[in-house]
Amino acid sequence: MGIPQPAFYIFKCEQSAPPGMPKPSCVSQANPESRELFGYLGQKLMEKGLIATVSPIRTSCLNRCQQGPVMLVEPGHFMYVALTKQKIDRIIDEHIIGEKPVTEFLIEEEFWDKAIAPMEAMKMSGM
Ligand code: FES
Repeated sequence: MGIPQPAFYIFKCEQSAPPGMPKPSCVSQANPESRELFGYLGQKLMEKGLIATVSPIRTSCLNRCQQGPVMLVEPGHFMYVALTKQKIDRIIDEHIIGEKPVTEFLIEEEFWDKAIAPMEAMKMSGM
């Protein structure tokens, strides 16, 4: 038997804008909890014995800064927004363990429309 793939990857945006920057960011001084979310996610996955099959990944901007703090759960392109520790608890219990995404925490459809196929994107850019 080979080395098993992770069941899930969780990409947590850890981008923080420099002080004074008007653009919002997922990790900010204005929201002290935002600085603790990645650590909290990892700790909860460890406590529940999930770390062997769920990989938390620190990532930079995922281009949904207005909805931050955000994290993307793969497979499935599930973009969770306005994260808090309580939301992370429910996402782990209901989505990761229970395999039912927590729909009320997902990004609104108008900000997360269908992806553009790469061939289509090439045509649109004149390639
Ligand atoms: S800073 Fe997190 S999505 Fe842009």
